[in-house]
Amino acid sequence: MDNIDLEYVRSVVAKNNAWRGSTLNLIASENVMFPEVSEEFYCNDFMHRYAEGKPFARYYNGTKYIDELESKCMEYFRHKFKCSVANVQPISGAIANLAVFSGLPKGNGRVITNSLPSGGHITHNRMGTITRICGREVYNFPTNPDNPFKMDVDGAVRLVEEVQPDFIVLGKSMFLHPEPVREIREKFPELTIVYDAAHVFGLIYGGEFQQPFQEGADIITASTHKTFPGPQGGIILIRDERSFVKGIESALFPGIVSNHHLHRIPALLAAAIAYDTKHTDYGKRVVETAQKLSELLADAGFSVCGYDGKRYTYTHQVVLDVREMGGGALVADKLERSGIIVNKNSLPWDKSVINPSGIRIGVQEAVLRGYGAEEIFEKLKIALK
Ligand SMILES: Cc1ncc(COP(=O)(O)O)c(C=O)c1O
Repeated sequence: MDNIDLEYVRSVVAKNNAWRGSTLNLIASENVMFPEVSEEFYCNDFMHRYAEGKPFARYYNGTKYIDELESKCMEYFRHKFKCSVANVQPISGAIANLAVFSGLPKGNGRVITNSLPSGGHITHNRMGTITRICGREVYNFPTNPDNPFKMDVDGAVRLVEEVQPDFIVLGKSMFLHPEPVREIREKFPELTIVYDAAHVFGLIYGGEFQQPFQEGADIITASTHKTFPGPQGGIILIRDERSFVKGIESALFPGIVSNHHLHRIPALLAAAIAYDTKHTDYGKRVVETAQKLSELLADAGFSVCGYDGKRYTYTHQVVLDVREMGGGALVADKLERSGIIVNKNSLPWDKSVINPSGIRIGVQEAVLRGYGAEEIFEKLKIALK
């Protein structure tokens, strides 16, 4: 173990910093924090501490300042989303989902979610949290035959009638269009609607995407570090004071989270304040850049997915079908060799995840670093040649 010493660790960290700092990062689920959310908010004494329980009702001593900041952070998000509950203790979006999927009451045990190939997340599907840990029986929403990147809303309504699920989960990982929250809510006034906003939280926050609570969702789960340029973490928002609140919050603590990684909390609050004061047009710039990039790529002959007659995308994402270029795995590796980082992605018709048909591009980090659509397009065009 001679070669594994402090210098070795330091050098690998430095190499990664230099390498990833020099690449164009287009991974749709990543971001850097707003520049205002500097080390003072994130790397501080809170990173060594515990504070089990709710603010001002902890099981540990020494928590007076995290009590203050966590309650202010909860208050800030409640006010922003005009909702009853903002719980910032999930340490990631997947943990937020686990708390909600396990904490909601169980009736017949059935749930309806988006399938993996249509863009749903692993936590919403059979081999992930919702079945493997929470024991729910999963049915998947049908996709629109004309545009399989969108839901077939009439088919979804029929499925809800048939399955009578305990709840449904909207939102996905490959996310190009708004979800039919309003349409489903109009048909089913009593249905519990969970909206997984992991990817689009920053766009919703900036008012540049559908507003799930206003359209009828009951619960929002999200990551705080994808389109929302905050620290890696999760959040649960609940619109009204409902009977399931207690079940979800106690599923989270004491059920899942013990230490909720306190140093995230000041950074999360700082990111929200920075968004509202210094970066008010960030969400708009992200969506406009993705739209423009999708058009430039389509005009140049690339197979851009999701076109609905108006746009290819309403989010930060652009999805390309690259089967003719050798498939998603090959293309993503090729791009990495040219200093552009994306991920391979299954498209709705794919059976295998090893070399799926697509790549998924997200522009949110590039926008924060000052790139425009043309610049991203030129780099992609050269690297894809
Ligand atoms: C739709 C969706 N939900 C949940 C998650 C999990 O979020 P996290 O990585 O913060 O655990 C992801 C991750 O990409 C996602 O895409």
